[in-house]
Amino acid sequence: MIKRPVLAANWKMHHGPSAATAFMRSFVAAHQPRADRTVIFFPPAPSLPAVVAEAVLRTDILVGVQNIHWAEKGAFTGEISAEIAKEAGAKMVLVGHSERRHVFGETDAQCAKKCVAAARVGLPFMLCVGEKIEQREAGETAAVVTRQLREGLGQVGHLITTEFLLAYEPVWAIGTGLTATPTDASAIHTLLRSELTAMIGTRAREIPILYGGSVNVANAATLIAAPEIDGLLVGGASLDPGAWTKIVQA
Ligand code: 13P
Repeated sequence: MIKRPVLAANWKMHHGPSAATAFMRSFVAAHQPRADRTVIFFPPAPSLPAVVAEAVLRTDILVGVQNIHWAEKGAFTGEISAEIAKEAGAKMVLVGHSERRHVFGETDAQCAKKCVAAARVGLPFMLCVGEKIEQREAGETAAVVTRQLREGLGQVGHLITTEFLLAYEPVWAIGTGLTATPTDASAIHTLLRSELTAMIGTRAREIPILYGGSVNVANAATLIAAPEIDGLLVGGASLDPGAWTKIVQA
């Protein structure tokens, strides 16, 4: 069972196996297990075994992959399946991160297939949603994140038993130093919760909704204290063990 708050580190394309091992030794020593929160790491796939090995005694830490392909197997050079990720030790997968959507052109339909693929093997997933700056300025934020949520979960069905989480990451806040205000983020999280309730009923209350986008040591505590923000998905500030330890303890 995932405890809230959930503090998730997305390392993107940083920290190979040796850097990952060094990071984890430092982090595990600095952050003693706490029963009141869950820490998740999404390292680059080749660093997954190193992170898993360093966290092997820690039930408060989950390790996942940043992406999967939707097919079970086949001629898909460069891709990994949910099954392979799971066998390698992944306990979670990110689906539809904004960089997957906007750098690599991933569509809502593809995200939906990835959620199905994860659910099929019982791999918990974190579906990411978020609007681009021009969509925000056009007043389309609610429509965009609602569509991403509905289409992303559209094929797993309301009977889904696999654990899943949502992350709201406004694209304009990622890596820019701009953060949504806690009030703005809360409003979107509230909207996502009510959309999710329409889809899966009261179970929606149990689904953690994380905020991501330029979270750092200075703003983490305020964001996490805001209503409906159940955790944080952190890029840049998760790369340094000292900063990350402070965020996890926020
Ligand atoms: P930053 O924290 O670097 O803005 O990245 C956020 C993110 O994309 C996490 O998935």
